Amino acid sequence: MAHPYVLLSAAVSLDGRLDDTGPERLLLSGPADFDRVDEVRAESDAILVGAGTLRADNPRLLVNSAERRAARVAAGRPEYPLKVTVSGTGDLDPAANFWSTGGEKIVYTSDQGAPAANRALRGLVDTGNVGGTGTGTGTDVVSVGSSLDWRAVLTHLHDVRGVRRLMVEGGGRVHTQLLQQGLADELQLALAPLVVGQPDAPRLFGPGEYPGGPRGRMRLIETRPVGDVVLMRYVPTAPGTGNAPSAADHRWLRLACELATECPPSRTAFSVGAVVVAADGTELARGYSRESDPVSHAEEAALAKIEPGDPRLPAATVYSSLEPCARRASRPAPCARLILDAGVRRVVTAWREPDTFVAAADGNGLLAGAGADVLVLPEYEDAAKAPNRHLDRHVDRHIDPCASGPANGVHWS
Ligand SMILES: NC(=O)c1ccc[n+]([C@@H]2O[C@H](COP(=O)([O-])OP(=O)(O)OC[C@H]3O[C@@H](n4cnc5c(N)ncnc54)[C@H](OP(=O)(O)O)[C@@H]3O)[C@@H](O)[C@H]2O)c1
Repeated sequence: MAHPYVLLSAAVSLDGRLDDTGPERLLLSGPADFDRVDEVRAESDAILVGAGTLRADNPRLLVNSAERRAARVAAGRPEYPLKVTVSGTGDLDPAANFWSTGGEKIVYTSDQGAPAANRALRGLVDTGNVGGTGTGTGTDVVSVGSSLDWRAVLTHLHDVRGVRRLMVEGGGRVHTQLLQQGLADELQLALAPLVVGQPDAPRLFGPGEYPGGPRGRMRLIETRPVGDVVLMRYVPTAPGTGNAPSAADHRWLRLACELATECPPSRTAFSVGAVVVAADGTELARGYSRESDPVSHAEEAALAKIEPGDPRLPAATVYSSLEPCARRASRPAPCARLILDAGVRRVVTAWREPDTFVAAADGNGLLAGAGADVLVLPEYEDAAKAPNRHLDRHVDRHIDPCASGPANGVHWS
């Protein structure tokens, strides 16, 4: 269930509005920022907006710079990014600019909305786009099931359409859902120097529950003036909940895999990295194998840096490049037990422990058996293995989740 990198992009007023209530689109950015957005579009495989934005703004969503389009073609990419919209009703205007410009288009909808979408776009679907300034290629309508499930949309874009980088340009309802569901990898906000002041004007983010709750703080990764607006880039940090992986889960697990490369080398133990993260996205501690002494494990090294009984531990997540150990000769308690004793009930890991040192170790099963949510993200398995290549052939043993089966209660993403 791999997803593209999801970048939410918006221009927003000082009072957090995407638009005013008037019939004309409110231009929040200036020329320099529109050019920056054009560059971000050119770097993307696909651009998504909700059907509400199609109706309100009638956007073209093109890469406007001829040089950027030529660079895409020279790199073997389509001249224009794939254009994507989502609609529950299927109530789409076939005369909208979205359909007649640029390259390929796709509509994601539900079983309920698909007939109406197909009816509305009759003449465009499957027959190639008519007219337009672009490549004149086709339009698809895809139902993802009984409701518009965002994970299904992202998985389809990744697996079927080959999208690795998705730029989401609104509107508020789409941004709100992707952020609330922990599916946004990055936010790029252009803060415009004006106040809309209308209580009914569309908001960037609507009410509801967001990852990390009201105290969850994202990480600011860049600020930059662009003309008279300020670009702010943030990455969400709050872990997912339960068995659903969030974009932040991926980021933290990548960090754990990077930490594994810092381990002093050993021929008798794995090199592993671990990070402990509170529910609001605060990093509580990090560690790696043999960090504190010649036999310490990564999870043990990280947990040892946190005050026992820290009230943030029960809602925290442990990220470990390798499944926490279940049996251990060098210490009285294995890492799976240390995690449970610390009160942590959510673990995200990249690689199941091979038989190199312990046969049939099942730390994930031990954790899940004690009621913890355990999540394996196998797309990071290669990164977790990389610092262990010197150990032996077992490191290369491919663990096929379907063939060997996950331990009870362990979820493969
Ligand atoms: N400042 C900026 O950067 C910026 C950028 C984009 C848009 N905007 C503004 O944002 C406003 C539009 O925002 P919006 O929130 O009204 O619209 P939106 O987010 O663009 O689209 C919402 C629509 O998408 C479909 N949809 C989204 N999630 C769905 C789900 N889970 N299930 C079923 N359908 C779903 C529905 O379409 P159906 O109604 O067809 O079912 C829904 O009405 C406009 O005022 C526009 O100017 C501003």
